[in-house]
Amino acid sequence: MYAATPKMILPGATIGILGSGQLGRMLALAARPLGYRIHVFSPERDTPAGQVADVEICAAYDDLDAVRAFARGVDVVTYEFENVPANTAVTCQQFAPLRPGPQALHIAQNRLREKSFFAENGLPTAPFVPVHSLADLQNGLAHIGCPAVLKTAVSGYDGKGQIKITHPDEAETAWQAAGQVDCILEGWIAFERELSVVAARGVDGRFAHYGVIENSHANHILDVSKAPANLAPAVAAQAVEMVQTVMEALDVVGVLCVEFFLAGDNQLLLNEMAPRPHNSGHLTIEACVTSQFEQQARAVCGLPLGDTRYRQSAAMANLLGEVFQRGGAEAQRKEPDWTAVLRLPHIKVHLYGKREARDGRKMGHLTALAGSVDEAERMVREARELLRD
Ligand SMILES: Nc1ncnc2c1ncn2[C@@H]1O[C@H](COP(=O)(O)OP(=O)(O)O)[C@@H](O)[C@H]1O
Ligand SMILES: [Mg+2]
Repeated sequence: MYAATPKMILPGATIGILGSGQLGRMLALAARPLGYRIHVFSPERDTPAGQVADVEICAAYDDLDAVRAFARGVDVVTYEFENVPANTAVTCQQFAPLRPGPQALHIAQNRLREKSFFAENGLPTAPFVPVHSLADLQNGLAHIGCPAVLKTAVSGYDGKGQIKITHPDEAETAWQAAGQVDCILEGWIAFERELSVVAARGVDGRFAHYGVIENSHANHILDVSKAPANLAPAVAAQAVEMVQTVMEALDVVGVLCVEFFLAGDNQLLLNEMAPRPHNSGHLTIEACVTSQFEQQARAVCGLPLGDTRYRQSAAMANLLGEVFQRGGAEAQRKEPDWTAVLRLPHIKVHLYGKREARDGRKMGHLTALAGSVDEAERMVREARELLRD
């Protein structure tokens, strides 16, 4: 097993990324100016991250020979999604440090473990119970009440694997719909706002954060984020402190994001976490002195963390596959009108190099910088509308 040493992995070294989506792409694009090489391990070819990497190793995550070859060729391994199989992670660790470590992965992969971990660390969440059977679900509904939401414990994202339950009679249908797998039942929170905090922790335990970001979702998928969130300073400080608690408890080296609900009376509830940069943090690319991706590179390489200050207020709007379907009732795929947006001085366009624009698929995002968050939000929403005209 690789023995952890606090030595820095200096520019010129190679960062290995497990996973090959847009988060890996933006990490690669941020690490390159610092002089790092990037190797991507990907189950597919010509991926968002692979397109901008020095090397794209194409193999299945359970192909441990390929995983070994990948890990041997890099100086540090990180990941851009949390469903890295445990075997893959452990295999990488034999050759290079894995950052964040396997404990963060283990917890973040399973919603039950995640919420239990929050609760054990004294961090508030929605009320929840584990569900392993229809009887558990019925008892859980009696205990938590309706409305509630049943979520599969593993492999859900962007609202996938979630069923809202408004009446106890729906228990059986919901249990079937969830596929009769291990689940978590959560009380439905009539939140006022959704928030997130992206933060980083270095090998030396130093902590840096981007304050609180405010998020709105459409169809359970992140739609627009804006920062800094307009929030009572004491509440913002409390959210940041909770994230630091999470990162210290898991000894995270890298970037981590926690999603929160802000319920009545400024009550913060932790919803979920991701031990990696987060969609809500994309606006840090333009808005902050150091982006969340450069920060990830710095943290996993043991470099000093960068300055997280905001140069301006910012808002980010996701571009899902739907924006490629302009005009006509036939939902025909058409290239959006990029030039209309590229003309706007305060808007930056990011595209992830994905070939197929499926509904709900994250294809890119827009960022607006402005004097206030509300102005930035208005600009980024207007810009996105132009793409569809
Ligand atoms: N207990 C809940 N109460 C109210 N809304 C919820 C609850 N759980 C999830 N949601 C809504 O669904 C969205 C997606 O759920 P989340 O748990 O973050 O899963 P994921 O983002 O992995 O799909 C949340 O951002 C929120 O808008
Ligand atoms: Mg979420």
